[in-house]
Amino acid sequence: MNLQTVKQRFGIIGNSASLNHALKTAIQVAPTDLTVLIVGASGVGKESFSKIIHSLSGRKHQNFIAINCGALPESTLYSELFGHTKNAFTGATTERKGYFESLNGGTIFLDEIGEMPQRLQQFLLRVLEHGEFVKMGSNKVEKTDVRIITATNINLLEAVKKGKFREDLYYRLSTVPIKVPLLKERPMDIHILFRKFASEFAERYKTDPIRLDEKAQLLLENYSWPGNIRELKNIAEQISALSETKLVSAEELLEFIPNALNRNLPALTNQSNKSSDNSSFYEREILYKFLYEMKKDLGDLKSLITELAQTNNLQMPNPTTHSNPSTLSSIPTFNSQDQKDFEQNEYDNSFDDEHNKTSPIIINTPSTSGNKFSDVEEIEESLSIEDMEQELIKKALTKHKGRRKEAAKELGISERTLYRKIRQYEIDS
Ligand SMILES: Nc1ncnc2c1ncn2[C@@H]1O[C@H](COP(=O)(O)OP(=O)(O)OP(=O)(O)O)[C@@H](O)[C@H]1O
Ligand SMILES: [Mg+2]
Repeated sequence: MNLQTVKQRFGIIGNSASLNHALKTAIQVAPTDLTVLIVGASGVGKESFSKIIHSLSGRKHQNFIAINCGALPESTLYSELFGHTKNAFTGATTERKGYFESLNGGTIFLDEIGEMPQRLQQFLLRVLEHGEFVKMGSNKVEKTDVRIITATNINLLEAVKKGKFREDLYYRLSTVPIKVPLLKERPMDIHILFRKFASEFAERYKTDPIRLDEKAQLLLENYSWPGNIRELKNIAEQISALSETKLVSAEELLEFIPNALNRNLPALTNQSNKSSDNSSFYEREILYKFLYEMKKDLGDLKSLITELAQTNNLQMPNPTTHSNPSTLSSIPTFNSQDQKDFEQNEYDNSFDDEHNKTSPIIINTPSTSGNKFSDVEEIEESLSIEDMEQELIKKALTKHKGRRKEAAKELGISERTLYRKIRQYEIDS
């Protein structure tokens, strides 16, 4: 069976080289009776691989069972796998067949094999080498013909070195290793997988599937996906259920994956030289986009400050003409020409103007005493845009007595953005 047919039949989405390589190995090894070790982190799709191998093997009409070796205590796992006799232990009122007996001719998938207790590892080795096992409480050696597929999300060789996993079993199991790649190692598959999960959800609930805008796609492709496909599926379902719009923006996506930015940006410096990897291209791309957005935000913020200053009759100095604005008497009245100069200078100087960074902003609150400068409040400008933003948000909220809708309108941002920022800055509102 060829690769495309297998993908269609088993609902495997993706076309990256590492995934295709793993699938080809599975297809090749399926018709043999060889033991397979599927290696990969949690959620990459190891179980899907075990089902593919069984279904493409000569045992496909026989039974298949998946057992999680990490989920059961040693004695329970022993009796599940090998069975027990009547009275083998207190409460064993009847004889029980284990899976190696009842699945004779079929396939057993032993998931999390690295968690298998040492004593059982020895019995498993006996099944693998001689096709023999003994029920708990019995002396009789029985025969079985079961194909064993195993999977692990830990480094088994490390476990061998630490004495936690038998070396002989390790070599016996890893006759044919299949490495299932991490989702972040195949960024080109991420969006297709998302679309698949979104349309499955839409079909189930009879709605239109959600889509991601360009920036949201980039964000999705650059996230590190520690939970791999399982995490992606959960996120796609959450957004499908909770999103207010069908076209999801990066901003909205961030509400569902709050770590999406933090986790990837530090990796940029490490990976910027790997031209062979598509992901560095995507990372650069997203960094540019976010820098651009940040610059736009900064522009908006500056217009906002100006607008706020105007509507509230606040005084603002021209940073280029007042190198020492702490001398209050030197501050001229704010007029429209000053505002133009201010805007012009701000834009020209953008991020890197040292002077710009160190000049304090002076806000003149309207005075009731008639003296224009008597209630002047001097604030050392923080170097951080975030601090300024927080300050404006607090002021807008106070002005509108905590009414977010009006505060957001005044700030020129959406209510949703305001809500996110209130949470981000932990502002009491
Ligand atoms: N290539 C793929 N295309 C579409 N869906 C996939 C693909 N691979 C895995 N899935 C889906 O992702 C989810 C996680 O897969 P699976 O349970 O096989 O992961 P796993 O590697 O066994 O994880 P764990 O180590 O935590 O048991 C499942 O819902 C599975 O159907
Ligand atoms: Mg699994």
